[in-house]
Amino acid sequence: MKPILEIEHLRKEFLLHNLRRKRILALDDISLTIREGEVIGLVGKSGSGKSTLMKCIYRTYLSSTGSIKYHSRTLGATDLVTATDHEVLALRKLEITYCPQFLIAIPRVPAVEIVAAGLRERKTGHTFSPIHLAKEYLLRMGLPGELTDAYPATFSGGEQQRINVARAIISQPRFLLIDEPTASLDLQTKNTVIDMILELRENGSSVLLISHDEHTLHRMCDRVVELVNGKTNS
Ligand SMILES: Nc1ncnc2c1ncn2[C@@H]1O[C@H](COP(=O)(O)OP(=O)(O)O)[C@@H](O)[C@H]1O
Ligand SMILES: [Mg+2]
Repeated sequence: MKPILEIEHLRKEFLLHNLRRKRILALDDISLTIREGEVIGLVGKSGSGKSTLMKCIYRTYLSSTGSIKYHSRTLGATDLVTATDHEVLALRKLEITYCPQFLIAIPRVPAVEIVAAGLRERKTGHTFSPIHLAKEYLLRMGLPGELTDAYPATFSGGEQQRINVARAIISQPRFLLIDEPTASLDLQTKNTVIDMILELRENGSSVLLISHDEHTLHRMCDRVVELVNGKTNS
């Protein structure tokens, strides 16, 4: 399969201005290739750089040096280190989705609306109703029917997590960055969520997954990459 993402010699340094300009080298010479249809697991101790790597790819953080070549269907090969903000926003709208570890629950927006927004924000050319599909996703994930129209701010951790994941995958992104999607789920729900993320792969999507859960890693990943102090250990 063709590569979708090629990371070469990536470094990310944080400069802490309030600590006498102390430097933290969060990513140290990372090189990694992800192919179309591949699911890569990212593991490592807390503080090893996993979230920083995802945020550099999504361009929440600007990398210090190196390159992250993304082979876009619409823009062609694009280096996410040097791409313009305009290009980055276009890719987020069309192809790349980032699912953070925790849901940011917006007050007085029902669960089903939050999930449907994941589809509306994406230009997919779909013809079905976003609300209808959102409901289907949530019910399949085992969210009790009466909760689909309720406000997630008061939901349990596991219920919020399902809304978070459903929102990220409903538009079937071509490239998904997903941080700990199954951490607070029981085994049955975990397996359903894993199946639903894996269905993306059947359309050729690629996934970069952070997880500490052996079961999730074993079921989902074609390959696992370990980060140790900002370096790949593989
Ligand atoms: N915004 C930031 N500012 C300064 N330091 C940061 C920032 N984000 C992460 N770091 C530092 O980078 C290192 C890697 O953190 P992180 O990527 O969050 O690790 P992980 O996700 O593997 O737990 C840590 O030393 C952390 O303190
Ligand atoms: Mg993290």
